[in-house]
Amino acid sequence: MNAMRHFRLRAALMVGVSTFAVQAWASEPTVVPEQPPFPAQGKITYVPRDSILEYKALPEYREPDWVTEKFVKTGKLPPVAERLPKAPLVFKTGNMPDGLGVYGDTMRHVVGGRPEGWNYSAGQTQGWGGIDIEMFECLTRTAPLYQVEAKDMEPLPNLAKSWEWSQDGHTLTMHLIEGAKWSDGVPFSSDDVMFYWQDNVVDPNVSPLNGATPETFGEGTTLKAIDANTVEWTFKEAFPRQHLYSMAYGTFCPGPAHILKTKHPKYNKDMTYDQYKNGFPPEYLNMPVMGAWVPVEYRSDDIIVLRRNPYYWKVDEAGNQLPYLNEMHYKLSTWADRDVQAIAGSGDFSNLEQPENFVESLKRAASDTAPARLAFGARLIGYNLHMNFSGNGWGDPDERAKAVRELNRNLDFRKAVTMAIDRKKLGESLVKGPFTAIYPGGLSSGTSFYDRQSTVYYPFDLEGAKALLEKAGLKDTDGNGFVNYPADTLGGKDVEIVLLVTSEYNTDKNLAEGVIGQMEKLGLRIVLNSLDGKQRDATNYAGRFDWMVHRNGAELSSVVQNTPQLAATGPRTSWHHRVPESGELDLMPFEKELVDIVNKFIASNDNDERADLMKQYQKVSTSNVDTVGLTEYPGALVINKRFSNIPSGAPIFMFNWAEDTIIRERVFVTADKQGDYELFPEQLPGKPGEGGPIN
Ligand code: GLA
Repeated sequence: MNAMRHFRLRAALMVGVSTFAVQAWASEPTVVPEQPPFPAQGKITYVPRDSILEYKALPEYREPDWVTEKFVKTGKLPPVAERLPKAPLVFKTGNMPDGLGVYGDTMRHVVGGRPEGWNYSAGQTQGWGGIDIEMFECLTRTAPLYQVEAKDMEPLPNLAKSWEWSQDGHTLTMHLIEGAKWSDGVPFSSDDVMFYWQDNVVDPNVSPLNGATPETFGEGTTLKAIDANTVEWTFKEAFPRQHLYSMAYGTFCPGPAHILKTKHPKYNKDMTYDQYKNGFPPEYLNMPVMGAWVPVEYRSDDIIVLRRNPYYWKVDEAGNQLPYLNEMHYKLSTWADRDVQAIAGSGDFSNLEQPENFVESLKRAASDTAPARLAFGARLIGYNLHMNFSGNGWGDPDERAKAVRELNRNLDFRKAVTMAIDRKKLGESLVKGPFTAIYPGGLSSGTSFYDRQSTVYYPFDLEGAKALLEKAGLKDTDGNGFVNYPADTLGGKDVEIVLLVTSEYNTDKNLAEGVIGQMEKLGLRIVLNSLDGKQRDATNYAGRFDWMVHRNGAELSSVVQNTPQLAATGPRTSWHHRVPESGELDLMPFEKELVDIVNKFIASNDNDERADLMKQYQKVSTSNVDTVGLTEYPGALVINKRFSNIPSGAPIFMFNWAEDTIIRERVFVTADKQGDYELFPEQLPGKPGEGGPIN
């Protein structure tokens, strides 16, 4: 009797022999269990979409006095009214939690990443933790949508101040903000938008950060400039409003064409693509940005400092040019240190996202004298184990890796793995208490598209899992505790699987170690490949992994953001199944179904149909174990109490990270609470690539 049948029989005997009981053996898939209630959540006040901002000319504009005195009066800068667009973006006071702000002070961030350079358009990371979000503004903006009423859901305007659809819905005309300037005073125009699109997204030699590809905006989509302030999209589908989300962070945030072109091989024949990508290292200061702060100082492994952008194109209703905060710090440390410093008050901001730090942080934040406030959001932070599904060469696999890919493509094998994961134990190894929940994979339980009844869960059942491994042809033939391949595969060697993980987060490491321990009980030998964040990403994109532990992206926490990443909708959209150098995507039937569902979702404007499609998505992805869910939990925003205009209930992650969600350009510190943290008081960014800030 094989182990599987033996097990079924035992289960049947235990509950009494009836048709029902025979079917209800322990490892039968079920609906995922209900999650433990989680009380400590901030309350969100929902508002109409148009209550947040508008574009209009105001009778007069203001700026910090020292800018007028030291820069305008000395002729170093034109007056503020001339630096602003004709109709700047105006944040409405009614939507500001504490109203109009005052100038001054610094927000001190701590990050675990390290900057490669400023060329976001060519894929360089700035070190994360909000640095890039603050430097590069995008056509639309979605992070603040967490507070927008569902009936009104559509991305907010940003660099694109308005748009209209043609009657047939295939053309979208976008009007860019008129008269806005880069932080060095050079006009922003459709040239910047077209350079980003044509010479970065569409150019096969360039991959922008966050992975924008032409398919991100729909297959066959084109973009052209009509005039300096107008661009026109054409789509194969009619009214694919969903793409407006891809025009937000992080896939449509143009860089300064006037600077980047100087090193792009198409415009400078002396340059290679490598030189283009690496042509703006962190030491290249005063990189022009459309964002509110400009990098003026970089010290390796120490700090990045950004100062206010004198050409920023957003104001409050009183005409005060934003931002209110003069300076931003990014201490180059570790992500765990970000939590510690924010709680202690030596840093100002953290997305508390590593459960290992929850209990201590909660304890400290509870005291009246605690410097920071801490508020939890919904369970939107999730982790999955991704298996590399490419059977035709993505990542150039050797014989060993090929054999693993074949296993990954076998449903019995995937079921065995998911059933061998004790998710309760895995969650509790991170933190005890009601934080973590059983997460089988698929859409996050915190999104409005989540449907528990469509969420298929294979309960923890080690014996059932072992039986399935055997069914997949894997047996421990040499008695060393690990299963072997059949004799005709790799000479019957032990199965050995390499697990890719980033070493930047304790949670990722702990989850990977937990998986290794649990797989050992199943009889699978897993070897860790632990790399820093950037190397992990590069290894992932290049397909050089068998398995990978991965924190979920916005496609799972919001569904509408990064939607094409929900499946292999394009050659380079999926985390675990991409096209090899030359070739086609070898999708399995259920993956084709997922692609189909996601494409229908993108093309549909009918809310009921979209909700229904996501139920189908959830069912197909969880029943086929598209990914192996590991755990899911809420994150908390930790922010120093001296800051005003921090909206209540802001999730640390939904459409984007909290650094964007809180709308930092509106955040301020009242005069009585301002600290003495500015490293370059009364200074502004200097010339691009030259020195630091200027007096
Ligand atoms: C990292 C951090 C997140 C968030 C993002 C912003 O990924 O872990 O909390 O700060 O950067 O990009």
